[in-house]
Amino acid sequence: MTKAVLGIIGGSGIYDLPGLENVREERVHSPWGEPSGALRIGDIAGLPVVFLARHDKGHRLSPSDINYRANIDALKRAGVTDLVSLSACGSFREDMPPGTFVLVDQFVDRTHRRESSFFGKGLVAHVSMAHPVSPRLRDRIAAAAVAEGIEPKIGGTYICMEGPQFSTYAESMTYKQLGYSVIGMTNMPEAKLAREAEICYATVAMVTDFDCWHPEHDAVTVADIVKVLLGNADLAKRLVARLARDFPREHEACPIGSDRALDNALITQPEA
Ligand code: ADE
Repeated sequence: MTKAVLGIIGGSGIYDLPGLENVREERVHSPWGEPSGALRIGDIAGLPVVFLARHDKGHRLSPSDINYRANIDALKRAGVTDLVSLSACGSFREDMPPGTFVLVDQFVDRTHRRESSFFGKGLVAHVSMAHPVSPRLRDRIAAAAVAEGIEPKIGGTYICMEGPQFSTYAESMTYKQLGYSVIGMTNMPEAKLAREAEICYATVAMVTDFDCWHPEHDAVTVADIVKVLLGNADLAKRLVARLARDFPREHEACPIGSDRALDNALITQPEA
């Protein structure tokens, strides 16, 4: 029996988790380098919860400068079994306007200057990323959202760009025509690393803007994002509190095997 530990990564606008009780801060040193900041370890309604601010307090880290490997490693060492990524994003869809919470089920990785694996150089593994989101965790998030009066959109594709600049109009139109739903700068390689660490992962993509494709909206600016972000962040914190209250206390096996991803992934032969 494995104890369930809920991990929360807070993106832009979410630098703490007010509902967390009995909190202690722990600076975890990882062989992969320094995580974004101290872990805030506590509980909500008796469930162990570990919080990490992805960009650190004060939004010190740009998406390209985040040490995603150290973050996932630190959360794994803290016992996290299920990880929820709370992330601001732009939208390519009229039916996902600012303020919408999208529970995405797919990612496209367009990042190009980030370390994206724990493996290589002597120990090679290829985990499946066919289904990057753990469906049971996503279902639980959906139920918590509905219980809090939020109507989430279920399913969608999140394209992760390198940034830090926003997309050009041509890029934005291309992503829209390719059928992607939302765009952000941080969920890759985070989702890949969570899979390699055998942690169930799901994203709440919180729409702040229409990027720059929409004929009736100006191109996104940080000021636009911040305006929507604060309302989204308050709702997200309520969602997390509800999720934790209703979460099973023992980890349930992931129906798609996210928590056993390495069982068939190692290809390097053990030394004879
Ligand atoms: N985060 C929030 N809005 C975004 C956008 N339009 N593009 C990339 N990342 C974002």
